[in-house]
Amino acid sequence: MKIAVLTEQAEGETRVALVPETVSRLSRAGHAIRVQSGAGDAAGFPDSAYEDAGAVIAPGVSAALSDVELLPLVGPPPAETLGLLPSGTVLAGMFRAAASEDLLKRFAESGVTAFSMELIPRIARAQRADVLSSQASLAGYKAVLMAADTIGKFLPMMMTAAGTIPPARVLVLGAGVAGLQAIATARRLGAVVEAFDVRAATKEQVESLGATFVETPAADAQAEGGYARELGEDEQARQRAVIAEHAATSDVIITTAAIPNMPAPLLITADAVRGMRPGSVIVDLAAETGGNCELTDPGKTVTVHGVTIHGPFNVPASMPLHASQMYSRNLNALFDLIIGDEGLTLDFTDEVVRKACVAHAGRVVYGDQDSLIPAQQDGAPEEQAR
Ligand code: NAI
Repeated sequence: MKIAVLTEQAEGETRVALVPETVSRLSRAGHAIRVQSGAGDAAGFPDSAYEDAGAVIAPGVSAALSDVELLPLVGPPPAETLGLLPSGTVLAGMFRAAASEDLLKRFAESGVTAFSMELIPRIARAQRADVLSSQASLAGYKAVLMAADTIGKFLPMMMTAAGTIPPARVLVLGAGVAGLQAIATARRLGAVVEAFDVRAATKEQVESLGATFVETPAADAQAEGGYARELGEDEQARQRAVIAEHAATSDVIITTAAIPNMPAPLLITADAVRGMRPGSVIVDLAAETGGNCELTDPGKTVTVHGVTIHGPFNVPASMPLHASQMYSRNLNALFDLIIGDEGLTLDFTDEVVRKACVAHAGRVVYGDQDSLIPAQQDGAPEEQAR
């Protein structure tokens, strides 16, 4: 197949869809890969590394896209790129389908088949393609480093000639993929860590990483697919009160709480921030969906009552080498499902292929993916989310 790799156009995007390691694998399997010159520069992969991996370097977008059949991307393609694609081209990227109605319409109008990687079902078989996990894990790690870099304190306990310094206290809110990675990172740096989640199942995971689970007087809020449900008003109020108490004794708070396709739950009120010690740091990884802290200014860093609050966007792009490498492997896992010996084989009876598809044959299929199954044919029984 003819595969193209382009320079990402979104502001601040440093990742590249395919790294040389994956290009080499695809090239050895007989595929022809063209890489736009400079596409991997910001992620630490020069043109020469792609050439060594078997790719041809193309001077610009249109040269890279000549006769393209498969276009892996990080984020949405600009309109001009979409206009250059032959009908039937297969695109795969993190398109945020739930919030990208117009983009999906444009995919359908262009006649491309588009896969939105965040929709890959989180079942055991598709774990290798799980971009939510790969990118969230990087964000959780980096959030702790951002906090460590901002706070005017050591994280570990230090016993020095100038006396003993106690370890910093880190509170992690939301113990999903990002939260668990934040806990592990803060522990490695020697901090004393507490964590909280509304899903009771996370208690054991938190404790297995050496952190203390913060108990709140609320029922287990695990919902469909292993995600959290939205809490009722009473539950939220009780939860915020407990968090405020723990915030007052924390040096660092990392927040990661999310509910699929909803604004981020508010966990840290302005009053709770006022109750924190000056010099403390909050890193709000939920900033892109509004933030878990009332005083987060999404996309910015602010200092309020002496507390620094980071509300970063696109944290994985701040670690582009490994973010790209992991994402590229995720894409490769999808390719294993859609590329056969004869080239492209779109088997929509496979739930991973079907559920990630958002546009096909001139139609937006997001939300109606079952319509992709040919009549008279049922898909294999579905696996349960882990
Ligand atoms: P997420 O990004 O949607 O949410 C992050 C965390 O915030 C979750 O743990 C959630 O319970 C928590 N949260 C939501 N509301 C909260 C509140 N009010 N207070 C405190 N915490 C709150 O979740 P993420 O990290 O994407 O993963 C969650 C689930 O996804 C896992 O439990 C697991 O079931 C599933 N999963 C499956 C995988 C697979 O099989 N491939 C891999 C990773 C996760």
